[in-house]
Amino acid sequence: MLSHLLHLQGIESVVIEDRSRQHVEERVRAGVLEHNTVELMRQAGVGERLDREGLHHDGIYLSFNGERHHIDMMDLVGRSITVYAQHEIIKDLIAARLAAGGQILFNIEGLKLQGIDGAQPHQPSLQFTHEGEPCEIVCDFIGGCDGSHGVCRPAIPEGVLKIYEKTYPFAWLGILAEAAPSCKELVYTYHDRGMALFSMRSPEVTRLYLQCAPGEDLAQWSDDRIWDEMLLRMTTKDGWAPNRGAVIQRGVTGMRSFVVEPMQYGRLYLAGDAAHIVPPTGAKGLNLAMADVVVLARAMAAFYRESAEAGEALLRAYSETCLKRVWRVQRFSSWMTHLLHRFDSARGFEYRRQLAELDYLVSSRAAMTSLAENYAGLP
Ligand code: DHB
Repeated sequence: MLSHLLHLQGIESVVIEDRSRQHVEERVRAGVLEHNTVELMRQAGVGERLDREGLHHDGIYLSFNGERHHIDMMDLVGRSITVYAQHEIIKDLIAARLAAGGQILFNIEGLKLQGIDGAQPHQPSLQFTHEGEPCEIVCDFIGGCDGSHGVCRPAIPEGVLKIYEKTYPFAWLGILAEAAPSCKELVYTYHDRGMALFSMRSPEVTRLYLQCAPGEDLAQWSDDRIWDEMLLRMTTKDGWAPNRGAVIQRGVTGMRSFVVEPMQYGRLYLAGDAAHIVPPTGAKGLNLAMADVVVLARAMAAFYRESAEAGEALLRAYSETCLKRVWRVQRFSSWMTHLLHRFDSARGFEYRRQLAELDYLVSSRAAMTSLAENYAGLP
């Protein structure tokens, strides 16, 4: 998206990727887009397939004590969400870049960053191998959009970054199932045995998650065991439950909150998971990454198209501008995680406090509005 936004401003960029095109286009990730992300895709001219195939949802359900409660986000805040898989967005963006003559180098190896400290007269450069050939790109700026295990963040000298971090004592076991979604919207369930989440990818494919142990061994989970546990947690008193179907994909997702400050060093600007991780509850990761690159593209556009001074001022402010949203979204993701997961195994204080919080949430328009404005995406 950063490369595409720069292109729309007439700014040249090269995307380098250490995985294959097939890998990034097929890897299953989250799939909930905030209103802002949908608008961004449209405004950037890459929203056509999203508008055709994305599933627009007016709200979500919260389920506990065997009852589903609807949170009507459209009614509460006039904004809502669209279900469209992250790898579909990646396909659309890759297609748009290539159609416009943009350069994306896949399967690169041995990437090294140099000259990022911004000290003149050296320019930043990237060295790597592509199709067996050594390559070097000399550039003005590097966007570090390479995720939490990438090479960009570790290229920043020790002592520059402050790390804020929290791990959770559970993970999510997620599946894709060949089953028609039995509800038009997402259902977040708080249950004695842990959180469960009903989502979808298309009118034929259901996406489901359940809270599990951090290092959960998938070999211990037969399809029958997965379905029994999903249905046990999700079935409501009125008989609603997800439809069963063949499990076509499964995985375990860890849960972590992580932020580095600042999100920049010299001519290197970190964006998305390279700079921050949210736990998956609320599906904010992709949306937050999109918000970062909008800020970065705007600053770079000012640098080239207005004046170096105007651009430098926005670039200097990049981290501070992004971190305001990052911390608000960290707060929301952490709150939603605490709302819906079992922390203590006994039915102790936490358990009753969580039930009271859910009960308050679904009975107060003020509380529901707070959930809705964060879930649909802060302006
Ligand atoms: C999905 C993922 C999430 O983390 C979430 O909160 C809701 C939905 C999904 O993959 O569909």
